[in-house]
Order: sequence, then structure tokens, then C-alpha cells
Amino acid sequence: MKELIRCGGLGTSAHNHQPWKFIVGEDYLEVALASEHLLPQMDPSGHQAYMALGTAVENIRAAARGIGLMPEVEPPAVSEDGAVIRIRLHPGPAPTDQEKSLHQAVTERFTNRNPHDGRPVEPEVWGDLEEALRPFGIKMHVVSSANGVRRVSRLIGSAERFGLEHAGTVDETYDWLRFSDQSYAEKGDGLWMRTMGFGPAVALAAKFVFKWNRIRLLNLAGFSRVYGLRSRRTASKSASWVLLTVEDSSPAGFIVAGEGYQRFLLRAHEHNLAIHPMTYLVMVCIMLAERPDCMTKSQRRRAEAFDREMRAGFGMEDREYPLIAMRIGYAPPPVFLARRRKPVVEYAPAASVSPEDRPTAVLEEVGV
Ligand SMILES: Cc1cc2nc3c(=O)[nH]c(=O)nc-3n(C[C@H](O)[C@H](O)[C@H](O)COP(=O)(O)O)c2cc1C
Repeated sequence: MKELIRCGGLGTSAHNHQPWKFIVGEDYLEVALASEHLLPQMDPSGHQAYMALGTAVENIRAAARGIGLMPEVEPPAVSEDGAVIRIRLHPGPAPTDQEKSLHQAVTERFTNRNPHDGRPVEPEVWGDLEEALRPFGIKMHVVSSANGVRRVSRLIGSAERFGLEHAGTVDETYDWLRFSDQSYAEKGDGLWMRTMGFGPAVALAAKFVFKWNRIRLLNLAGFSRVYGLRSRRTASKSASWVLLTVEDSSPAGFIVAGEGYQRFLLRAHEHNLAIHPMTYLVMVCIMLAERPDCMTKSQRRRAEAFDREMRAGFGMEDREYPLIAMRIGYAPPPVFLARRRKPVVEYAPAASVSPEDRPTAVLEEVGV
């Protein structure tokens, strides 16, 4: 169970917010939503949180096979009170080499935000990634032409600028930035400035500046514009851009999509690919669809133009819901990697007790 929980806790999440806790039963493990770890501003529909649960589930599935168990993932149970996915664990055959490799990838993979080295991603690798996504109902849109990459890079520049000009996303992001090595080591979640490519001096300055009342003034002097240009420059050094979409935009659909996304990341790691998700691309479209009231008139007009460009740039149809967009290519590994907080675990009593009666008070941090 410790290995499964360790691997579940290595799931990926926006802002590294890790919105999960684990519940251990006699012959099962559950991944449940930790409602104190949500991002209401940048994730109003909860789609990124549900996706994150799916990434933990997929890591557990890969780890279970890697140690010779046969995981049976039950359909997600989602209600107003939260979301739970139960993974039943049965004895299974010895793992194949491929299953062992996937289990290893759970620990080894990482987000790589470095510029790409110019090598294109080979057609057979795209084929393998598409294959990994298929069972989860995820569609992959790839943009690899120089013109296409330039077009999407322009979009990410304006999306990240948009994020810096929105009070809610700025203040929410502040809560998840880990400015010092010490605060990151203590919490083990959030975005450590070093993994984002910023040294201690910039991190210290950011700690004092990254509040809406200050950012707003800096934006008047062109801060958001310059930041957008920086993102655009990084983005333009990309071999390819990929947008993943789904048609089932229910909470359960997002959880399953998160499983598929994590499988995709594990397979990409086996191909030595560098993957850098850039959430703001889809966030602008989602905020426009779900929280237009949180935007000023001019923000709404910009977001509408952005949404049209996104759909055209990736060839996305109306019925598709944008899940996540990322840069994909080959790049040297980053120097600093994300760490994780210790997972919160509840122990469920004997299986004879119904889930409704399960006490939730028994909490323990496991040393994994
Ligand atoms: C839904 C989702 C959105 C993400 N958005 C971004 C993003 O906009 N920018 C970024 O640099 N990383 C993004 N990430 C990557 C996470 O920050 C990263 O997975 C997390 O910090 C854990 O680090 P690791 O991937 O190195 O294990 C995203 C991840 C997920 C699952």
C-alpha cells in the first residue's frame, strides 16, 4: 500500500496543488478529493482538480501492475460532497517488462520547461502517444509547423498576460507560489520558483510584488506585457504544441481524462520527451465559458477573440472541451525538480461498514 500511495502522490496537478487524499481499505485503495486544495479562480469548473485525481489513479494503476497486483478501477463516484475513485486490488500475474517500465516512469518523469533543442518528434512517437490516449476518449491535436508554433506561441503570450491582468488568478497564484527553498521543503506542494526557472533574487522580489494591488500598478508600466513576451519567447522554442480535448466534460469524464493524460505523460517519458503544460491557454477559454462575469468588458472581448484563435489554431470543433495544452519536444533535463508533500491517508474500517458510516477522523501522514 505504501508504494501505491507514494506513486499516487506523484500524480501531476495544476500549480502542483495535489488535491487528493488516500483512503486505505482491506483490499482496495481510494483516491478522494481534498476540498481544501482547490483552485476556484483558475479552475472554476473543477476540471483541473478532477483531472489531478485521475493522474493519481493512473499512477496507482501503473504501480500496482509493476508490483504484480491486478488493479480494478471502479467508475468514479462524484457527488456534491466530493469525488472518490476506488481501486480494488487483486493478486495478478508477474509484471511484463513494459509494465515494469511504466511503473519506473511514475517516479522518474518530471515536467521539463526548458527550450527544445530543435529535433522534431518522430511520427511513430506521435502514433504511440495517440494510442495511449485512445482508451480514455481523449483527442490529440498536434501543431508542429513553424507557422503553427509561432501562432500558438503568440496565443500563450496573450494568455499569460491575461492571467496577470486578472485579480482573482493573481491572488490565487500567489497562494501556491513557493518563494523560498525552505517554504517549498516544508510544504512540498505548490510551484517552487526554482522549478519555474527563477533564481532566489527574482523569487524574493516576486514575494513582495506578486499581489494584485501591486501587480495592477506594475501592469500600468507594462509588466504583464513584458511577461507575456517572455512566455511567448519560451514558447516559440518548441518543437510542437499539443492540445488534448474531450467530449465528456462531466466531473467523472475529467477524472478518466486525467488517467489518460498521466498515461500519456508516462509514455512520453519512456520516449525521453520534454513536456511543459501551459494551462493558461485553456484557462482563458474555460473562464470565458464559465465565469464571464469575473471579467471586465474589455477582458471579455479579448477572451472571445482568443477563444476563436485557439479553436482555429488547433482545429478544435465546437463539441470538444479543451483539457490541457502543452509544449512537446526534446530538451536537456531541468536542474530542479518538484518535490511532494506527504500524502494524507485515512484508514477505512472493515469492509462490512458501509462507506456512509466510515469515520473520516482517522488521519495519519505516512512516511513515503
Ligand atoms: C492540469 C495541469 C495543468 C498544468 N499547468 C501548468 C502550467 O500552466 N505551467 C507549468 O509550468 N506547469 C503546469 N503543469 C505542470 C505542474 O506544475 C507539474 O506537473 C507539477 O508541478 C508537478 O511537477 P512534475 O510534473 O515535475 O512532477 C500542469 C499540470 C497539470 C496536471
